[in-house]
Amino acid sequence: MKGVILAGGTGSRLKPLTKIINKHLLPVGHYPMIYWPILKLREAGIKDVLIITNSDDIYSFIKLLGEGEDLNVKIHYKIQENTGGGIADALLSAKEFVKQEKFVVLLGDNIFEDSLTPYIKAFQQQETGARVIIKKVEDPCRYGVPHIETEQQKILSIIEKPSKPPSSYCVTGIYMYDQNVFDFINNIHPSYRNELEITDVNNLYIKNNTLRYDVLNGWWIDAGTHESLYKAFTYIQQSRNKEEMN
Ligand code: DAU
Repeated sequence: MKGVILAGGTGSRLKPLTKIINKHLLPVGHYPMIYWPILKLREAGIKDVLIITNSDDIYSFIKLLGEGEDLNVKIHYKIQENTGGGIADALLSAKEFVKQEKFVVLLGDNIFEDSLTPYIKAFQQQETGARVIIKKVEDPCRYGVPHIETEQQKILSIIEKPSKPPSSYCVTGIYMYDQNVFDFINNIHPSYRNELEITDVNNLYIKNNTLRYDVLNGWWIDAGTHESLYKAFTYIQQSRNKEEMN
């Protein structure tokens, strides 16, 4: 399976840190943020990785990561032409890279503890469709929130940044898709924030009855704000200290 990491966007909630530095190049612990999703993919055996970012930033990523030789992965690059056009818009740039294969997508600002291996295994057993990973959070209004039918373990719909969240879960930035994703993206329209929303794409999978989900066990952070970036730093440091003690 191949992996795609989205590292574009404007980083507006982290200004002025992101005025001249792409969010995913900011430090989180002892590495730049982008290292963490790459390491998670590598740990799950995915060594063919596409990074999608803005045209202004791509050379900084190439300077940092090259072809991936230091991290023992093969890194490819693509530009999202429409800066800040949305997660689904960025994903369109992955079409050529993934060809007919199913693939994993990570939002570059999602830092988490769990290994991806069991979730990827479950997706491999799923014939078609998509898989999302959800997590219980204190502030669901910040995220895409699933309305869950617990008895049948089904997501009925997902609402992006709802004022009245239908559950206390968030759909994390760990997604798995089959080839249909590109047709679905071509069928959605820009949202109120003028972005092609990944939530709209996931809702089309729900309509098609092919969206499955798992619940993340360990800690998970969307490091897109000053507070959460600081939290990510702390969690990474604590994990490192724990490893050193073992
Ligand atoms: O972190 C999980 C949440 O991420 C989900 O619960 C939401 O459903 C999803 O929409 C997303 O919400 P955010 O508002 O946090 O997305 P943000 O704009 O911060 O972008 C998330 C990542 O995607 C970030 O690493 C940059 C990348 N991105 C974003 C946009 C808008 C791109 O590569 N291109 C883009 O155009």
